[in-house]
Amino acid sequence: MAFWNRRRSIEAITSFEGGSRLKATMSWPHLIALGVGAIVGTGIYTLIGVGAAKAGPAVMLAFLVAGLVCVFAALAYAELATMIPASGSAYTYSYAALGEMLAWVIGWSLILEYSLVVSAVAVGWAGYFNGFMESIGWALPAALTSGPFGTDTPGIVNLPAVGIVGVVAGMLMLGTRESATVNAVLVVIKVLALIAFVAIAAPHFDPANLQPFMPFGFGKTVDSNGVEVGVMAAAAIIFFAFYGFDAVSTAAEETRNPKRDLTIGIVGSMVVCIIIYMVVAAAAVGSMPFGQFAGSPEPLAFIARTLGSETAATIIAGAAIIALPTVLLAFMYGQSRIFFVMARDGMLPRALAKVSAKRGSPVLMTGVTAVLMAVVAGLFSLGELAALANAGTLAAFIAVGASLIVLRIQQPNRERMFKAPAWPLVGAGAILGCIYLFISLPVSTQVNFFIWNGAGLVIYLLFARRNTRIAKGEETAA
Ligand code: ALA
Repeated sequence: MAFWNRRRSIEAITSFEGGSRLKATMSWPHLIALGVGAIVGTGIYTLIGVGAAKAGPAVMLAFLVAGLVCVFAALAYAELATMIPASGSAYTYSYAALGEMLAWVIGWSLILEYSLVVSAVAVGWAGYFNGFMESIGWALPAALTSGPFGTDTPGIVNLPAVGIVGVVAGMLMLGTRESATVNAVLVVIKVLALIAFVAIAAPHFDPANLQPFMPFGFGKTVDSNGVEVGVMAAAAIIFFAFYGFDAVSTAAEETRNPKRDLTIGIVGSMVVCIIIYMVVAAAAVGSMPFGQFAGSPEPLAFIARTLGSETAATIIAGAAIIALPTVLLAFMYGQSRIFFVMARDGMLPRALAKVSAKRGSPVLMTGVTAVLMAVVAGLFSLGELAALANAGTLAAFIAVGASLIVLRIQQPNRERMFKAPAWPLVGAGAILGCIYLFISLPVSTQVNFFIWNGAGLVIYLLFARRNTRIAKGEETAA
């Protein structure tokens, strides 16, 4: 069989040698907390402003478009996660359905996604943190609050962003279970602050603020400053606010009852988030002309403050500072496990798959990846990081839609605890929706994405393809 088309059997994927199996410690409440913890973050707290700048009041529509695409992807994920309850998310599903080379591309894209989400959210968190320090008169020197690249106010390094990555990595290395419990409390804080925001903004709703509704049109266009605008350009960035449910499926191997827990965890956390975002977006653009808050590094706190509620502004900013690290936790967790699974499959050096005997988790990989994420967070701007993270995620979602279709056709009788309704529609919806979002991203982002995957393919062709378990005859291809 041609190396690029080698597929792993689902039996091989779900049965592991005892030594490097991760501990099953989680159940669905942990997963919903992990899911909402991963999903609600910088997207709604900060990128809502970037979205409004690109779409005007129709940023609501951008949330709807991005959310609908994610519903298709979430349904496909839920089916695959219950059919193949093993770590590795889109990478693992692709290895079973699309062959080894595409699986590598998806794994490589997921590494980009998870790393950049951690870095992006750290930068978003630092924005709120810096604002808070300034408000209590302890402002850090400007050179230490911004990286040198991609910003109007370049500094030397974004020190708070580096610091928060270190703190969260430490939490994760202390063990999944403990971190997941802390995570659950923080998720509640994060959601309550959004409810507080809506309570402050809703009474100021004025339909006049929604006119004109779509000042920059629907499809992506380039404005006179060379910036991509339009509802779809906004949706391609806002998409960042919705994903994270795939972090739940990367935990498949560590759940006690994978089929039930993952179905509830993935679909449930998705639906909860869509409802929250629609309401927050309507409250934001309805309460004041969008141009007033679009450029703010802390838009929700800014709106509350402008509407006269300093207390609510402080609560929202405080919640962001305390709770946004849950997103870092979830994605750092997902990242370490993508590396772990790829290493165990022989795609990456196997020494990386070493699980700490005491913790039952890959401590070494968590540390190594955290250092890289911290360096990137210290140097680049939020917008650039979020756009490139989106590109990696869109590639993974396209693969998930394709894997759903391929496995339904090739293995129609295999047991699926959760079956996506109207699967051809769900699969095609995920694929086409994600392609539309991808082409709506900035061109520079698309170029960087292809450079990343070009480099990845070279690594695969030179090294990885010779060292996989299947290549070495340790496992028979399906
Ligand atoms: N969805 C996550 C966020 O908005 C990545 O921060």
